[in-house]
Amino acid sequence: MTTLLRNIGELVTNDPTRGDRYGILNGAAIEWVDGIVTWVGLDTEAGSRVNASTEVLDAEGRAVIPGFVDSHTHLAFAGERSLEFAARMAGESYSAGGITTTVATTRAASDDELRELLRGRVAEMRAQGTTTVEIKTGYGLTVEHEVRLARIAREFTDHVTFLGAHVVPAEYLGQTSDYVNLVCGEMLDAVAPFVTAIDVFCEDGAFSVDQSQRILSAGKERGLLTHIHAAQLGQSESVRMAVTHDVASVDHGTFLLDSDIDALAKSDTVLTLLPGSDFSTRQPYPDARRLVDAGVTVALATNCNPGSSYTSSMAFCIAIAVRDMGMTPTEALWSATAGGAQSLGVTTVGNLAVGSLAHVVELDAPNHIHLAYRPGVNLVRRVWG
Ligand code: NIG
Repeated sequence: MTTLLRNIGELVTNDPTRGDRYGILNGAAIEWVDGIVTWVGLDTEAGSRVNASTEVLDAEGRAVIPGFVDSHTHLAFAGERSLEFAARMAGESYSAGGITTTVATTRAASDDELRELLRGRVAEMRAQGTTTVEIKTGYGLTVEHEVRLARIAREFTDHVTFLGAHVVPAEYLGQTSDYVNLVCGEMLDAVAPFVTAIDVFCEDGAFSVDQSQRILSAGKERGLLTHIHAAQLGQSESVRMAVTHDVASVDHGTFLLDSDIDALAKSDTVLTLLPGSDFSTRQPYPDARRLVDAGVTVALATNCNPGSSYTSSMAFCIAIAVRDMGMTPTEALWSATAGGAQSLGVTTVGNLAVGSLAHVVELDAPNHIHLAYRPGVNLVRRVWG
């Protein structure tokens, strides 16, 4: 089936062959066949693409962007922690300990309950323009429950990340090294068929730099992509260790040292900023302007989870990145699409170049600046792909 979307006011392609990395065309059209982009150009040239079987659609001057790539989420959970959020807003600080509350509610949920919760969350994201989502395990923390989360998450996305090293579960308190052995051995073996990546929460109250290094190496030996939660709550050696290990992404990066920024800028590692967490935990926002200017590749993601960031809105993250982190709207959109794709090691999403997946999002707006200019408003009108 051939579809031609015409009369696009502003088309953001993120195709660097069209001038700069953003590849923005005004007065454009885009064609796709069976879900793959086959042509992009000016609307004035689109007439010659039409034949009897082409479905021709009219964007009526609106903006069109690549679907968002939400490259960091913890969607596989049951329960909620609104009281914890209210306590934080009243002055409590966030700690890794709250994760165990969600581990208990998630373990207690049936497969079907978890499946329905995931279905609802993925649909909520899609309605807001997210067409690619990464989902972490991490609220199971036994072999059986981590496999269950990975298996169910895999029904909804190709990008499932093993986060057995989220926190040390209650059953292993005081025996962290035994738990790390389990994560690197039996648990990893059991989840491997369902996951494409491994992650670790490297922070006080979770896993040390040495333990994290071991976990990442075990994942890498299995051919998994590697990610790390680092510098979320404080500073440590974690970011530099991760860059040395060539991780695909360092995620959070709220408390970076100058040496972390240098190391990231010289590496291929993506820094995934998660402004929803800084918002919901009342932390300072990272200085994205400085990071981009230093040459760091920045992605933006929601970190959707019931503890530190219960939002599914990539547009909300873009608005914060522009308002409080110094990014331009165009940089923030790139980070929420192409940047996320880079952190997941994929090139066919996050852009609308010929040959990429036709994950096409039409905004009820004349240009992408409205994503930040109209915070809290879902501007997504139609989603394909
Ligand atoms: O990325 N930092 C660890 N994991 C999540 C929080 C999970 C939770 O609090 O339930 C995060 O912020």
